[in-house]
Amino acid sequence: MRMYDLIAKKRDGETLTKEEIEFIIQGFTEGSIPDYQMSAFLMAVYLRGMTDQETAWMTLAMAHSGDMVDLSPIQGVKADKHSTGGVGDKTTLVIAPVVASCGVKIAKMSGRGLGHTGGTVDKMEAVPGCQTSLPRQQFIDQVNRIGISVIGQSGNLAPADKKIYALRDVTATIGCVPLIASSIMSKKLAAGADCILLDVKTGNGAFMKTLDDSIRLAQAMVAIGQHNGRKVAALITDMDTPLGSAVGNSLEVAESMEMLRGGGPEDLRLVCRELAANLLQLAGKGSLEECRAMAQDAIQSGRAFALCKEMFAAQGGDTSVLDEPSRFAQAAHSRQVLADQSGYVAATDTEKIGIASVELGAGRQTKEDVIDFAAGIHLYKKAGDAVEKGEVLATLYANDPARFDAAEKTFRQAYTFSAQPPQTPPLVLARVTEDGVERF
Ligand code: URA
Repeated sequence: MRMYDLIAKKRDGETLTKEEIEFIIQGFTEGSIPDYQMSAFLMAVYLRGMTDQETAWMTLAMAHSGDMVDLSPIQGVKADKHSTGGVGDKTTLVIAPVVASCGVKIAKMSGRGLGHTGGTVDKMEAVPGCQTSLPRQQFIDQVNRIGISVIGQSGNLAPADKKIYALRDVTATIGCVPLIASSIMSKKLAAGADCILLDVKTGNGAFMKTLDDSIRLAQAMVAIGQHNGRKVAALITDMDTPLGSAVGNSLEVAESMEMLRGGGPEDLRLVCRELAANLLQLAGKGSLEECRAMAQDAIQSGRAFALCKEMFAAQGGDTSVLDEPSRFAQAAHSRQVLADQSGYVAATDTEKIGIASVELGAGRQTKEDVIDFAAGIHLYKKAGDAVEKGEVLATLYANDPARFDAAEKTFRQAYTFSAQPPQTPPLVLARVTEDGVERF
């Protein structure tokens, strides 16, 4: 078999066999297929697409390129949740303890921030002392003991994806359904959970910008899960606006804890409730309505917050910051961004808000960058809100004041205003399961 012929086959729109796909993934992971040939192949896939069968074979080949985590020593149903990436998306920190406190085991491997989007592992590391890299046995023991552990992906989880993703990032081949679906699902299959709820973000801050594309991506991922004996469902949720009011690592941890204590912004509460209820339902805990009530009770009773603190404590974290967010190391500097006109916030370019937070130091611009956990943005005005000239749109936080000018410029570009209130989309736009698509 020659890589040259397989690139030409895909370029010409033909369908590859299982053996051909395995040859490509194995060869690229081992290094016998060079970056330039893989780049050409990825572009051919981007332009020509893949059949569901090809995508399923590619996902499996990528999953098997490294460790397949065996969660069988953990008793009971093991559930996982994955977001395709957003701004202000701190839902894992809320949902994971809610679902675990309802008796479903959470043995979850999360990622770090990517581009303008944040990542759960970075947020967890904002809690002083919290370890996100645990030996496999300690991870399993913790889940058996308290029902929950969230850690980072081990170095050898789907290494093919790591290499392919790095190449896609620099060859304009990210926004492609079979490539995103195989990237996400290879890691999910390798991570071993029985039930997986996907939060597919849609809108200007997401990788998928339109509802139809997001539904296609969700369908592809649900089908891959089904072929591999996992229960998978997806909610399509809005990312035309950042979720909640906080963007940035310790700010987002504080907002998640506020939610677990029964407060928090309305949009975050609704999305978390729906995600938690859908994951509980997938895990066999009852009807969606029963699962919504269960999730609500887990928060109102304080059980979910207590379990969240137990998880952080078990992983070495200083839980005093969870009770009292003012104990987080605070940013040395802040700057208010004031509205320069009255009216309504017509729309926000969510990707730009994410980039502004990265410019403040909340994310990485190069692989080597060290995150400033205190950096970020608190939003006071979001799409649909009325605003008076001179009112505070947001407060920017950073330890390095030299970062403010660029970040404020980017942030201001994200806002457009109108004289009339705009239409804002629903927060949960659709649900995709093995049985089909429900649009809301
Ligand atoms: N997240 C991933 O893990 N992979 C993608 O391709 C896009 C988002």
